[in-house]
Amino acid sequence: MSKSVLTFIADTHHYSRTLGDKGKAFTLRSDSDQKCLKETGDIIDAAFEYLGNSNSDAVCIAGDLTDDGETVCHEEFREKLYKLKEKKKVYVITATHDWCCDRNPRRFEGENTYHDVPTMNHNDIYEFYKDFGINDSFAQYKTTLGPASYAVNIGEHVTLLGLIDDKNGRDSAGYKKAHLEWIKEQIKNATDSGRMPVAMEHHLLIPHITPLFTKGACSPDRERIINELADAGLKLIIVGHSHLQRIDRHVSPAGNEIFEVNVGSLVGYPAPMVTVSVDDKKIEITTDYLKEFTFDGETLDAQKYLKNHSRNLLSVLFNAAAQNDKKLFAQRLDALGVSTEKLGIAVALLFFIFRKFSRMSVIKAGKFINKMPFAKKIPQNSIDALGDFTVQQIAEKVWLNILDGAREQYGENSDMYKVVAGVFSVPVAICKKLGIDGNPLEIFTECERAIDEILTGGVLSNAELIIER
Ligand SMILES: [Fe+2]
Ligand SMILES: [Fe+2]
Repeated sequence: MSKSVLTFIADTHHYSRTLGDKGKAFTLRSDSDQKCLKETGDIIDAAFEYLGNSNSDAVCIAGDLTDDGETVCHEEFREKLYKLKEKKKVYVITATHDWCCDRNPRRFEGENTYHDVPTMNHNDIYEFYKDFGINDSFAQYKTTLGPASYAVNIGEHVTLLGLIDDKNGRDSAGYKKAHLEWIKEQIKNATDSGRMPVAMEHHLLIPHITPLFTKGACSPDRERIINELADAGLKLIIVGHSHLQRIDRHVSPAGNEIFEVNVGSLVGYPAPMVTVSVDDKKIEITTDYLKEFTFDGETLDAQKYLKNHSRNLLSVLFNAAAQNDKKLFAQRLDALGVSTEKLGIAVALLFFIFRKFSRMSVIKAGKFINKMPFAKKIPQNSIDALGDFTVQQIAEKVWLNILDGAREQYGENSDMYKVVAGVFSVPVAICKKLGIDGNPLEIFTECERAIDEILTGGVLSNAELIIER
C-alpha cells in the first residue's frame, strides 16, 4: 500500500558561530536559553544526515529557522537546506524569529554584546526560501508581510499547507480574513480530491499543558481559527514555537475533531523529529529523537548533552536562591518564561521556597511540608521511596517532562506524583493562609493543576497517534 511520509522538525534556530561563541557575554546568553546556540550548526547537520537517509518523502520545518533573523544565520542555514535537498524534498515556513521581530539581533565579544548585526527583512524571505516550498507549490497566498503560505502535494495522499501566521492584521499572530478563507479553500480542495490536508504553522492553536505556560504562544484568535479549520475538514495541524513536545485534541462546537502536534525545538532537549505517514485509511504519527551529533570533532550523546543544557537553566535558578541573590533569581525566572511582573509579590514567596528547599533531600523537605498545618500531607512511604533525591533533582525531572511530553510517565499512584503534588500544594496553601489572592493565587493553583498533565503526559501520548481517515 502506498504511503505519503513527512517528517516535521521545528525551531532549528540556527546560530552562526561567527556571532561569537565564547566569552562572558556569550556564556550568559547561552546559559539562559533552553536550546543550544553554538552547537546548532552541528545538531542540524546530524539531524539532516539522519533525515536524508530516512524513508520520509519530505522534511518539513515549522518556522523559527534561525536564531533571530541574522543574515549570516540564514545564509548558513540555507546551505544546509540545499545539501538536504539533494536527498529529500524540503519544505519550510518562516516565523517571527526569521525577520528579527524584536529588533534585537546580537553578537558577543568578551564581556560585550553588540547589536550591529545585519538581519533579513521580512520582504526578502519569499525569494530567499523559494526553493523550499514556493517553487513546488500549486497555490500560494502572499501575506502583506512578504512571505507566502503555500499548498504542495506530497506523494499520493497528502496536501501540505505551509502557512505563514505571523500577522492577523492586528499586530498579533494569526490570519487576516482573506488568508483564512484561502486556507479553508485549500483544505476543501484537498479533501474533495481524496487527499489528506496536513497544515503546518508556527504558533499554537491549543494551549498545551496549561494556558499559563502556553497561552502567550497561541494566536489570540486561536479558538475561532481552530474551529474554522476543523469545520473545513482539517484533522491535523503541526506547530512549533513553544519548544515543547505535545499532542492534543480539540473538538469544534460543530463536533469536528482536530489534532495539534506541537513539535519541540530540534536544537533543545529532546530534539524531536515527528513522522506523519498517511495511507488511504489512516494517519500514523511517530516521534524519533536525535541520538548523536559531532561537535568540534567529538561525537556526543545528543539526549544526554541536551538534557544537561536544559537542566542547567534550572540549576542556575536554584543556585541563585542558594546564594541568596534575589535579583539573579528574578532574572532567571524571566529567562524560564515565568513572568516576574505578573507574579508580583509572589516572587518573594517563590524565592523563599527555593531558598528553603533548594539543597534539601526529599526526606527533609517531606518532613517539613507534612508539619505545615495547612499543606497537603505527603504519604510517608512515597517520601521514603524518593528520600535520597534532592528537591532540585525532582524539579529537574518535572522540567524535563514539561519539555519532552513525559517520555518518563509518572501515574497518580506513583511516589513521584505524590511527592510533587504535595510540594506544589505548598505555595497555594501559603497564599491562602496569608490571604494573597489575585494573580499569584491563580498562577499557583493552575500550576498545581498542571502537575497532573506534566507528570502523566496527559490523556494522549505526546509521541504517537493514529487518526482514522
Ligand atoms: Fe522558537
Ligand atoms: Fe517562535
